Amino acid sequence: MNRRTFLKSVPALAMLASAKAGFSADANTMTSAAPQGQPVTETEGVIKLIQPDLKKGIPTMEALSKRRTDRNLSDKKLTLQQLSEVLWSADGVNRSDGKRTAPAARAKYAVDIYAVLPEGVYFYDVAKHELKLVVKGDFRRDSGMQEFVYIAPLNLVYVLNLKNWQDESRPMPQSKRDRWIAVELGCISQNVHMYCASEGLGTVIRGMIDENKFSEVIKVKPEQILMAQTVACLK
Ligand SMILES: Cc1cc2nc3c(=O)[nH]c(=O)nc-3n(C[C@H](O)[C@H](O)[C@H](O)COP(=O)(O)O)c2cc1C
Repeated sequence: MNRRTFLKSVPALAMLASAKAGFSADANTMTSAAPQGQPVTETEGVIKLIQPDLKKGIPTMEALSKRRTDRNLSDKKLTLQQLSEVLWSADGVNRSDGKRTAPAARAKYAVDIYAVLPEGVYFYDVAKHELKLVVKGDFRRDSGMQEFVYIAPLNLVYVLNLKNWQDESRPMPQSKRDRWIAVELGCISQNVHMYCASEGLGTVIRGMIDENKFSEVIKVKPEQILMAQTVACLK
């Protein structure tokens, strides 16, 4: 097999491997059959997210030109497709080996995502691409301290989870590990920014969150609350 034939066959091989692992990165099969405006529904504490439409979106360079912070946000609900795509863009699985849209130092994935919806707070189960109910009720006021947070249909809260770092055999100063995790978080946040720029949604990455308040809601330590990010339609 010459180099050109090999390069041509790589995507086909990758697709075969992915299909075996139950994940297909083929843009056609990833396209959801769900209607565009399908509402978000929860069944027994689970919101089953749908696959992202890999064929939509504006060119990368145009998305970069549109990337900005928008605080003039509406209370309009996101569709299931939009909610699913925000989370998948943030840190969803995009390969058959379980790796994700955002890079993570040593693939340790130290950032969990909680989705604060008007109906409750949910944990994003990345492997299953679903949201699991943590606590029912409207906790938007506990997820920030700016007016737009309280009315937005989606606030993401990024939470430190060092579970995968605990068995790390290669020693590293904590400050260096934390810098690496900060980069992971920055990449997740920028993924959301890029999706929003392409989809015409508004977003704000926020340091302004009361860690004590929100940590009580999801029962973690205050120092685990890293940042938050609001996503909503524009007014
Ligand atoms: C680490 C970090 C923390 C931020 N915290 C907040 C915040 O709490 N509230 C807010 O409204 N904007 C926040 N921002 C958004 C910045 O204010 C915004 O990115 C900056 O004004 C530049 O504007 P631009 O994003 O439109 O380019 C934060 C941005 C970063 C990177």
